[in-house]
Amino acid sequence: MNILVTGASGRIGKVLVPTLLEQRHRVTCFDVKVPDRFRIDPGISWIQGNLAKSAGIKELLRGQDVVIHLGAYMSWDKKENKKLFSSNIQGTFFLLEGCVQNSIKKFIFVSSGEVYPESKPEYLPIDENHPRKPTSFYGETKLIGEEMVQYYARACGLQAVILRISHTQNSSELLDPSSFFSGPRFFLSARIVRAKKLRNKAELDVLKPFWDGKEKLILPIGTDGKAFKMHITETRDIVQGILLAVQTDLPSGEVFNIGYDVPVPFDVYIPRMSQLIGIPYVTVTFPYPSVWYETSNAKAKRLLGYNPKWSFDMMVEEAAKFHRKAENPL
Ligand SMILES: NC(=O)c1ccc[n+]([C@@H]2O[C@H](COP(=O)([O-])OP(=O)(O)OC[C@H]3O[C@@H](n4cnc5c(N)ncnc54)[C@H](O)[C@@H]3O)[C@@H](O)[C@H]2O)c1
Repeated sequence: MNILVTGASGRIGKVLVPTLLEQRHRVTCFDVKVPDRFRIDPGISWIQGNLAKSAGIKELLRGQDVVIHLGAYMSWDKKENKKLFSSNIQGTFFLLEGCVQNSIKKFIFVSSGEVYPESKPEYLPIDENHPRKPTSFYGETKLIGEEMVQYYARACGLQAVILRISHTQNSSELLDPSSFFSGPRFFLSARIVRAKKLRNKAELDVLKPFWDGKEKLILPIGTDGKAFKMHITETRDIVQGILLAVQTDLPSGEVFNIGYDVPVPFDVYIPRMSQLIGIPYVTVTFPYPSVWYETSNAKAKRLLGYNPKWSFDMMVEEAAKFHRKAENPL
């Protein structure tokens, strides 16, 4: 099949595109950024562009069978809401319009677990029927994206699938303090830098007393006294879910949670990660209730045959190898 992947230069795109090529699909990659290593692969057509600009989108879709829409801006900085709006909402709109004009056979919309109020769930585990009430503007852009997709499926006959994916990491990122997500999630220095950037004074006040110039991991606790618990899924397991959604015949507009079977309890894993890499951890009580949720992937298992393989134990083991290599490159 001819498959267009938006956001192809990103974390998930970099794993997805080679897998699609292995399966003998013809792949067109679209992104604002073009990674060098893809430029030279003869099996890939690369188009550099901005989803937020409608020019060229119609031509981009000509001759495509399937669109996998990964392209999105991710930020939790309120100052960036305009960019989130143009990339994620306007960009999805331009793409959907182009899909209908080009009679695209299937549109896979990569949404996010952030459409749910993950930090204040109404019941657990969170299934696909849980009310969607995002607590971030990023999550709101995904909710509006989902609504647009459902409209085009209902009113224009677009064959669409929505995947609400869990927080996603390459194992190699987990113990890397410079990683966009894992840095501030696990490392004190990166968490302080992010709190400063987001002008989060309440968090800064809590974190700063722990900083003595030496790196530490953070075991986060909420005001309710519970250690954080959330889903973190390996990119390869997310790619498995996307490929199944491409291959499986489904009623249009079907929605799936895609992520690992069980969430990550931080009180189990932070001590283990600390021991593995020899960096001490501190228990930090944040000035808000804990992030403590569990999401069900039962529907994806039942209807797609989804079978994620990467437990957090396996991810941490691989992450520790990357960490040791970074410490000792020779
Ligand atoms: N990584 C996660 O934890 C996570 C969780 C839930 C959902 N998602 C969703 O999965 C998708 C892929 O995530 P990822 O982890 O690979 O993210 P990523 O940031 O690594 O990749 C996103 C890609 O989209 C591109 N992009 C952004 N704005 C664009 C625009 N206006 N025009 C063209 N390209 C643009 C970026 O350049 C980037 O290469 C995104 O839609 C994201 O919202 C990710």
